[in-house]
Amino acid sequence: MRLRTIALPLFAVALIVSPSPARVRAADDAPRREIAIAHRYLHLPVRNGAAKRRLQLVVDGKVARDFEIELDGERPDLVVFDDVDEYRGKTIQVRGVGNVEGLSKALEAITQADEIPDPANLYREAGRPQFHFTSRRGWHNDPNGLVWQDGKYHLFYQHNPYGWSWGNMHWGHAVSPDLVHWTELGDAIRPREYNDWVFSGSAVVDHANTSGFQAGANPPLVAAFTSTGRGECIVFSNDGGKTFAEYEGNPVVKHNGRDPKLVWYAPGKHWVMAVYDEGKDRQSIDFYTSTDLKHWTKQSRIDGYFECPDLFELPVDGDASKTRWVLSAADGKYALGDFDGKAFRVSSGPEKLQNRYGNYYAAQSFSDVPDGRRIQVGWGNGVTFPGMPFNQQMTLPTRLTLRTADGGIRLFAEPVAEMEALRGAKHEWTGLTITPGSEETSQEITGDLLEILADLRPAKAGTITLNLRGTLVTYEAAKGEISCKGVRAPLSPKDGRIRLRIFVDRGSVEVFGNDGRVALSVATGANGAGKPLWISGAGEPFEVPSLTVYELRSAWPSR
Ligand code: FRU
Repeated sequence: MRLRTIALPLFAVALIVSPSPARVRAADDAPRREIAIAHRYLHLPVRNGAAKRRLQLVVDGKVARDFEIELDGERPDLVVFDDVDEYRGKTIQVRGVGNVEGLSKALEAITQADEIPDPANLYREAGRPQFHFTSRRGWHNDPNGLVWQDGKYHLFYQHNPYGWSWGNMHWGHAVSPDLVHWTELGDAIRPREYNDWVFSGSAVVDHANTSGFQAGANPPLVAAFTSTGRGECIVFSNDGGKTFAEYEGNPVVKHNGRDPKLVWYAPGKHWVMAVYDEGKDRQSIDFYTSTDLKHWTKQSRIDGYFECPDLFELPVDGDASKTRWVLSAADGKYALGDFDGKAFRVSSGPEKLQNRYGNYYAAQSFSDVPDGRRIQVGWGNGVTFPGMPFNQQMTLPTRLTLRTADGGIRLFAEPVAEMEALRGAKHEWTGLTITPGSEETSQEITGDLLEILADLRPAKAGTITLNLRGTLVTYEAAKGEISCKGVRAPLSPKDGRIRLRIFVDRGSVEVFGNDGRVALSVATGANGAGKPLWISGAGEPFEVPSLTVYELRSAWPSR
């Protein structure tokens, strides 16, 4: 919850007593503006820190959109947009509710266009990450509803389309054929009404149409999300996730919690919902079951987990006859155990395990990936982009595996193989020895988007430092620790070696140690071509059997 202004206890209360929006009416003299919709988008200028006001778009006498916005046409930091294509040809009213001082003037700054604001510069803005997903406009946090259907990976996400900070939660939507190149579509799930925000959740393909929601030849996409005014809700899509319809029996679960994760439990031929639930001195995950995604029965509870659960089964060391279930929550810590479709029994000991460090939160894994890979994406929480028209990013998609390692079975996370498609010019060094005080510097590499593969033989004591355009990644042999900008993870040499795979993008660095035994996601601020790139050491000389640097291409379309 860092970086956001809602306090959790308040949220818990909001679930129970959220005021009915119908009671909050726009005063008759509230500022309003009539707009004849002739184009697809409204453009709304926003100044971070300006008075936050509640606006409604009223169409045919009904409130169609209802949200908060720091509207300011004089000194905007960004211009957000609202897709009003469905109202083309109609005259709509934009009006204020509540604190409306100075609003009349701000309303005049709303304009219309057929394209989103500043389309020529989209994805080319100086501070825009080039291979981490960011939204075209506004704030995003958790990945939601990660699912594969019909050749496309779907990334839904917590989105504030109207501002640079958290608020107005919608489900944004992007699709990709390969987890690397994303096309952002419009918001897929909008709040039904003010104060009934669309919080996090998950999605599955209902192959056997257990829900009866299927309309055409293809199975429906079914999503579960937390409606902050109602409880856990089910929605379904028969158009590939572009639009969703509400199940009329919503909410399907009412409790004090959020973030439903749907899983098909094949042996029992039933659905499972793992969902965060909290009590006075308790944070837990509850497990419900259902045969039709509509009617749910509570089966069990496990304590000691905070929001955003994920639950999946993986083979150990690739052996399909030996599996473990993984249960994780938003902090990325996880337990291994058995799951019988109703209850999770931990087998990995009382302490949770950890493989992710740094700016990594609320991760989810994809459902229905056809090749059976378990692919995870996290919210790079706190990776922030001042001056840009968007805020926060997703982390690189990683493939999760369970492997026997020092200490037992552990979760490994490696960037998906598809990332290699971005590799451009390759620079390679072999057989280097770095002595204390010396450094190996590259002058020839000019790009600011880099993938680095370093095979290091650390001496028993001593320090190895990679300077990546001003961001230092350090391995301290005596401590057995890898660190970057204060983010630290334990890492011991394997066969005398530390193997690092590092991605340098604008705004962040991600470091994968020893084939994904640990992974660090680190906010770096602006990274720049022209800043130095070198490897050096202190304490004792060390060997670098090989060091490879790829300059990476942007994942965004060049236009
Ligand atoms: C996690 C979280 C979820 C909630 C969502 C709201 O970051 O707090 O528990 O559903 O964000 O945006």
